[in-house]
Amino acid sequence: MSEAVKIWKILDILKVTEELFAKNNISKPRLNAELLLCGALKTKRINLYLDFEKPLNETELAVYRSMVKRRINREPLQYILGEAEFYGLKFFINRSVLIPRQETELLVDKTLEIISTQRLENPKILDIGTGSGCISIAAASRVLCSIRAIDISREAVKTAQANSDLNNTSSRIEFIQKDFINDNESFNGYNLVISNPPYIAEFEINTLEPEVKDYEPKSALSDNSDGLSFYRKIFETAIQTIEPLTVLLETGDGKKEKVEELVQQYGIKNYTFHKDLLNIERVLEINII
Ligand SMILES: C[S@@+](CC[C@H](N)C(=O)[O-])C[C@H]1O[C@@H](n2cnc3c(N)ncnc32)[C@H](O)[C@@H]1O
Repeated sequence: MSEAVKIWKILDILKVTEELFAKNNISKPRLNAELLLCGALKTKRINLYLDFEKPLNETELAVYRSMVKRRINREPLQYILGEAEFYGLKFFINRSVLIPRQETELLVDKTLEIISTQRLENPKILDIGTGSGCISIAAASRVLCSIRAIDISREAVKTAQANSDLNNTSSRIEFIQKDFINDNESFNGYNLVISNPPYIAEFEINTLEPEVKDYEPKSALSDNSDGLSFYRKIFETAIQTIEPLTVLLETGDGKKEKVEELVQQYGIKNYTFHKDLLNIERVLEINII
């Protein structure tokens, strides 16, 4: 006699997954379960609650189970779902790009603030290490500007272009594959240079969560050195500009002292660190006059 196949209703499967995630040390287990189920069923979260008695069909169950397995292996939710939200916009995400972080939104806030306070009309902006394109696209979705966004990774550039098309910013941003460290990239002609560079030192990689160190691109996290290579190259290039320039750079938690030491070594006098919502010095603003 064949065994009866268990019927899984939305509410039951969420409960079981939540317990499984909790047992496997996945933070926010319920939220993870709900978001994966939304991905598997291609529906919104509210519908899970409206339809919680609804049984899943075989295909839905298979898709969901494979997603749950990936999450238990600590693959980040955004890679499993193939998308992330940043600055209220949707972005396609894959393993060639860093998952946009909420704290990076401060860099966008500061970019928009400077464009407004300096009354820049159609400013020229350079974005170094654009990744998913999140910073440039968020800024370009709010204000008229001309951005050159570079990244060493061809796959990242392709993803950023797709994200720009998705968010209707393609006429404002040009994405280019380029190695900023080894190829010359002058800052002349730009009003603003923005970057969230790979700032994790090589020795720190092993201290990161599995979601980060095992899944996000190494070249997006670290410079394979002391985590300061991009700051050095950016400061060295910035002090050679012949026109006024503002530079906005993300900095990591606990990195302020080292970055500030470098700023001073390069003789840069006009600089400020801006704190994020957690009171961490997150964005360095430099003004070259
Ligand atoms: C920390 S991620 C930032 C990605 C994105 N801007 C964000 O904020 O989510 C750094 C990015 O720098 C890129 N990158 C690494 N080395 C580079 C290099 N030598 N030249 C240009 N881009 C580089 C990586 O591919 C990655 O996309």
